[in-house]
Amino acid sequence: MKIVSVVGARPQFVKLAPVHKAIRAAGADHVIVHTGQHYDPMLSDVFFDELGIGAPDVHLGVGSGSHGVQTGAMLAALDSVFDEHRPDWVLVYGDTNSTVAAALSAVKMHIPVAHLEAGLRSFNRRMPEEHNRVMTDHAADLLLAPTQVAVDHLAAEGLAHRTVLVGDVMTDVLFQVRDEVSDRPSVLVDELDLTAGDYYLATIHRAENTDDPGRLDEVIDGLAGLDKPVVLLAHPRVVARAAAHGVELARGSLIVRSPLAYADLIAAALSSAGIVTDSGGLQKEAFLLGVPCTTVRTETEWIETVELGWNVLANTAEEISAGVSRPRPMATDAAPYGDGHAAERVVKTLLSAAG
Ligand code: UD1
Repeated sequence: MKIVSVVGARPQFVKLAPVHKAIRAAGADHVIVHTGQHYDPMLSDVFFDELGIGAPDVHLGVGSGSHGVQTGAMLAALDSVFDEHRPDWVLVYGDTNSTVAAALSAVKMHIPVAHLEAGLRSFNRRMPEEHNRVMTDHAADLLLAPTQVAVDHLAAEGLAHRTVLVGDVMTDVLFQVRDEVSDRPSVLVDELDLTAGDYYLATIHRAENTDDPGRLDEVIDGLAGLDKPVVLLAHPRVVARAAAHGVELARGSLIVRSPLAYADLIAAALSSAGIVTDSGGLQKEAFLLGVPCTTVRTETEWIETVELGWNVLANTAEEISAGVSRPRPMATDAAPYGDGHAAERVVKTLLSAAG
């Protein structure tokens, strides 16, 4: 059995780590293809090193570009990679341009494609991620859904027969890293002279929040006006857009810092008073760590976090401020994101579906 995983952006490297471990444990061949969508060491190499994945087998070096240019370059490069390896499965992750490019290339070459994290929907058709995930789900042969809500979305689109509920592989890696860092203080506390439990951790990178100058300014205003220091782990996209738009990031309560490696991010989240983000992964990580989250978006794919009270959607400066100062949510035993063994289920499903 040979599986080719195609990844390219930071959250995909996190999801790849437990899957790679489970594929190796099952004795299958695993070829890792990195498209090169993310290339800064802190968005890429650090995850391969830290999470024990090792170097990718193939690196396409595609880099940044408009959606069409970036996705097209990946498509052009992937055909020969799949042709050379002729895998039993191509495995694609999440909702980035790397995901849709790999799904499209594989399906046209008649190579079975499995989509990990299938069935998420924001129902916001302006989001590039929504285009990517809808197209990938409809192209793929096997839909590995993280939650019951995702299973229901796929059924509503007529895709129930290709769907398997496996749980969320991010839970697998998060639980392991949380246990490793739980007695380690965050590097941010010393570095930025903060008090543990008395700062907010923020990330903003989505096109909806960064591409329009007025919108970016409004979001930054909301963060800058909060009542505690706010550490903004600045994705290169927000830095690039802020510079282009002439928006000052380091103002008011805001402290701008480069992104953290995964274990450092989890430690920083654990010692924070709350998280403010537009990242999908971090909303879920906050929930699983028991840290209140305020999400700077008009909708979320991870609605369980909102229904259980650990996440609120906030768009204006007032809503962001109300979000971070709301009373601490009620503890919950609900486990909508699985039991930490999703990757094993993914591999079992791939092995049995191929037979
Ligand atoms: C991509 C995904 C998004 C995911 C995010 C995780 C798409 C459409 N978007 O967004 O779903 O949540 O990754 O981080 O696939 N840049 C660098 N260095 C890098 C990578 C990017 O400086 O290593 C800068 C460039 O200015 C680039 C911009 O960030 O133009 C955007 O990068 P891109 O890969 O297009 O999308 P992300 O915003 O990272």
